[in-house]
Amino acid sequence: MSAINYTEKIPNNVNLAEDRTLQRALEQWQPNFIGWWDDVGPEGSSNFDVYLRTAVSVDPQGWAHFDYVKMRDYRWGIFLNPADANRAVHFGDQKGEKVWQDVPGEHRANLRRIIVTQGDTEPASVEQQRHLGLTAPSMYDLRNLFQINVEEGRHLWAMVYLLHKHFGRDGREEAEALLERRSGDENNPRILGAFNEKTPDWLAFFMFTYFTDRDGKFQLAALSESSFDPLARTTKFMLTEEAHHMFVGESGVSRVIARTCQVMNELKTDDVEKVRAAGAIDFPTIQRYLNFHYSVTIDLFGADQSSNAATFYSSGLKGRFEEGKRNDDHVLKGQTYAVLEVHDGQLVEKQAPMLNALNEVLRDDFIRDSQAGVGRWNRVIEKAGLPHRLSVPHKAFHRNIGALAGIKLSPEGKLVSEADWQAQQHAWLPTSEDRAFVASLMGRVVEPGKFAGWIAPPAMGINKQPLDFQYVRFN
Ligand SMILES: [Fe+2]
Ligand SMILES: [Fe+2]
Repeated sequence: MSAINYTEKIPNNVNLAEDRTLQRALEQWQPNFIGWWDDVGPEGSSNFDVYLRTAVSVDPQGWAHFDYVKMRDYRWGIFLNPADANRAVHFGDQKGEKVWQDVPGEHRANLRRIIVTQGDTEPASVEQQRHLGLTAPSMYDLRNLFQINVEEGRHLWAMVYLLHKHFGRDGREEAEALLERRSGDENNPRILGAFNEKTPDWLAFFMFTYFTDRDGKFQLAALSESSFDPLARTTKFMLTEEAHHMFVGESGVSRVIARTCQVMNELKTDDVEKVRAAGAIDFPTIQRYLNFHYSVTIDLFGADQSSNAATFYSSGLKGRFEEGKRNDDHVLKGQTYAVLEVHDGQLVEKQAPMLNALNEVLRDDFIRDSQAGVGRWNRVIEKAGLPHRLSVPHKAFHRNIGALAGIKLSPEGKLVSEADWQAQQHAWLPTSEDRAFVASLMGRVVEPGKFAGWIAPPAMGINKQPLDFQYVRFN
């Protein structure tokens, strides 16, 4: 039941051949998707054969099949985790009822909005990353970038399938619009802020895949609890792919740090200019990149108090992270949760109704998860015998959404005046000079087994291949 049929034009495990109308609709969308990929997918890559992982079934063993593929011929398709016939709604007002195989009329608008918002992030990140291949620090890294890009493309397919199958004509229109918006476009931007930022260099890319793909993990995990069963099953499968994206981010930053430590130890210095002159990225710059990506990513969770969040939960559309592992009533009426606000010039906690604070609950889960990796980065520095430590900034630092939007705060959490902010933000967020320095390091290194001087090699290759394996054939 979980085998994927590759003889079909659109590989799938949803019996697409039995639904002619849907199949025709998706076959019409497909050339537009390929057009989008050719237009704004990885630049100059159309001839490359890339050593990619492709799902051949949704079993744990079946989604890790490796072979050389041209990216535009990647097996884009529709893969849902197997259904559980006994699955019941397990949170919200309809707890205990059977899950829905189709969209209930009263939830149609909200579900469409949730699916479109998730779907929009997938092509956006491909657009943001499209030039990075030109400055890859190694062939290994180039292949990882491309793996992420094709999987984000497939994630778009996952959401478009739901739109076509369950939302009729407006679903088809939304599916077209997903190919028309462009990251950073003034007139027709992507829906969410972080997905309109540039990803101009590989340090930004690693920070993005560590933090922003992790936002993806938490959003997908919350949607995988949904009472709308096809959404739950498709996001469950997407999560298996997301894990690799976060690995690329965590190990990428870790390797940058390892190289910096090595240079600092060789030169016996922590002088920023000397570290830079030796071609490594200094810790203050890494910290400022971290501050930027962390703060724009936690904005993605939305306003700290939101009536939409309450509606999505109570009506069973979107659960909490690991809803099933929590020991409460899964209805949450009358419960409260701490949110932050500024009161009399002080940052204070106040209790808000839990249902309205569910964005904040998910944000706090994300914060705990992302701090763990920063701790692992610090152990690399510690092992190198250096005293420096990285940290995530205060939750209210550099925020643009919710009650904390626009508040001027140091990364340590101290409220500062507008004048202080202006005077110090160059120490807290990447400056144009930082970005120019990092950009100056970005040269193309693609000889098998060679790595750019600002990053250490990884511990091991992909799929147990050696580091000097030919991960990409340029033809
Ligand atoms: Fe994705
Ligand atoms: Fe991702």
